[in-house]
Amino acid sequence: MIILGINAYHANASAAIVADGRLLAAVEEERLNRVKYAAGLPARAIQYCLDQAGVKLAEVDHIAIPRDPRARLATKLRFAMRMPRFAFERARVMARFAGIREDLASAFEIAPESIRAQFHRIEHHSAHLASAYFVSPYERAAVLSADGLGDFASSMWAVGEGQRMRILGEITFPHSLGMYYTALTQYLGFWKFGDEYKVMGLAAYGQPEFLEEFRRIVRADGPLSFRLGLEYFTHQNQGAEMSWRDASQTPVLGRLFSTYLEKRLGPTRKAEEPLEQRHRNLAASMQAALEEVLAAHWAGLAKKTGEKSLCLAGGVAFNCLANGKIFDHSPFERVYVQPAAGDAGLSVGAAFAVEHQILGRPREFVMEHAGWGPEFSQQQIRAVIAGSSNGDMQLSELDEDSLVQSTARHIAAGKIVGWFQGRVEWGPRALGQRSILADPRRAEMKDILNRRIKHREIFRPFAPSIIEEAVPEYFERSDPSPFMTFAYSVRPEKRAVIPAPTHVDGTARLQTVNRGANPLYWKLLRAVGDLTGVPVVLNTSFNDNEPIVCRPEEALDCFRRTQMDVLVMGNFTIEKKAALAAGAISAEGFAEPLK
Ligand SMILES: [Fe+2]
Repeated sequence: MIILGINAYHANASAAIVADGRLLAAVEEERLNRVKYAAGLPARAIQYCLDQAGVKLAEVDHIAIPRDPRARLATKLRFAMRMPRFAFERARVMARFAGIREDLASAFEIAPESIRAQFHRIEHHSAHLASAYFVSPYERAAVLSADGLGDFASSMWAVGEGQRMRILGEITFPHSLGMYYTALTQYLGFWKFGDEYKVMGLAAYGQPEFLEEFRRIVRADGPLSFRLGLEYFTHQNQGAEMSWRDASQTPVLGRLFSTYLEKRLGPTRKAEEPLEQRHRNLAASMQAALEEVLAAHWAGLAKKTGEKSLCLAGGVAFNCLANGKIFDHSPFERVYVQPAAGDAGLSVGAAFAVEHQILGRPREFVMEHAGWGPEFSQQQIRAVIAGSSNGDMQLSELDEDSLVQSTARHIAAGKIVGWFQGRVEWGPRALGQRSILADPRRAEMKDILNRRIKHREIFRPFAPSIIEEAVPEYFERSDPSPFMTFAYSVRPEKRAVIPAPTHVDGTARLQTVNRGANPLYWKLLRAVGDLTGVPVVLNTSFNDNEPIVCRPEEALDCFRRTQMDVLVMGNFTIEKKAALAAGAISAEGFAEPLK
């Protein structure tokens, strides 16, 4: 039984394939076509998934699409009358969904009638809910999805029991926590699609001095209900305009906030203007108001379902600051967030919704790690290195133990290490497969990384990876965070021990590394711990203003282009001869492990 899930014609296009109840592969199109947040038909991702299952498109049994044009039809029609241009855009997108069989046939150069799969339309938030619950380790759980907008809803909650989920409620357009966050992100001068996490980082630098005003912009009006102050927004009149031509372009979102919002909060910050304390306080106020609404949601959902486990999906589930507070504001004892909680995860959700909700098959799979994308053999890596070498690199091939020891020594000596191992991560976080690693004990490492490689806003924090066994020693909570979706307070006495990934508010967006789920990465962290006494590394994504690297070619290119010191790819360790000859152990002159 082969089920192919496809998130198409929408940002974060992706594909996933489930065979006999188990996920075999899942990947975002952007990793393969190198266009950030790529939309369109994810033909390369689909091809990769088919290859992993060893089938051709014509042999797939079911195709699951996380969009249902019939969902909330009356609401859609009502708003279509008010917003003809938006309605036209939506209708155009829906027409593409109607023609997906033909699009697939054309992309894979087969006749449409040779696709024998049954097509299933899974409503957007049902697919989000399925993406979290059906791959979670829980037999039963409350499930919450919250995002900008999908099939005209922005939030939905359910209770999962075994292989079934029962929808309990929803919030429909125009009320939306995702739109709220995006609108304020734009107002603060961050206009790129997907910039919301920047403002979340900024919030830690401010005080919520505008919270009263923000409670008029968004407020909980019941345990499982919230309202936007619609006069602060434009989307209820103009729609949420998102445009892209095809998979070759990053989506662009139109302006969502009104002139009334500017009148109340003051002038908009232009992208090139400096950040002032007022902006930081606005970000803090926005985050605080969101957390108030979410706290009411969590508590309401816990009360309604009586469940102790919670699964989260939708873009709002990436708000790790809020997620870290769930345990303080609700009786939930366990929380699972799937690594691709945003719209990329819809392909996995739609596929599992077909597997369990439609076909009624039992659950057999838990997503314990994020390695569901392409991997490359030692031979493939060797060939790429040989093909691109112009004598500028020093290469050594090591067995696993020596590789781990040597990498740990590089990190302890203050070098910046590219770490390319195994299958590409599913979701937006680098989790030890395509990561850049550095010593978390060096306070200056954040600036060094920014100057030499990442070139990103100085206020954005870097994150730590830590072996699961050491979490209670370093953090005030020890609940697992395998996919970097929770921020916890670093114990006060440890903040000076790992200053580089500790944010200004004393929290860190940690990745807890489990030995069984991620053995090689765990071994590396253990080796770093043996060497330095601190089993933690600073872990940032392997890229420089581009999608995270996927292939060895892209890793080598990023290594050459930036001032990365060492690239550890498969069993190879690669260093730049020029740097070695100059005796520059690192540009900062770190030569010895920090004691
Ligand atoms: Fe969504």
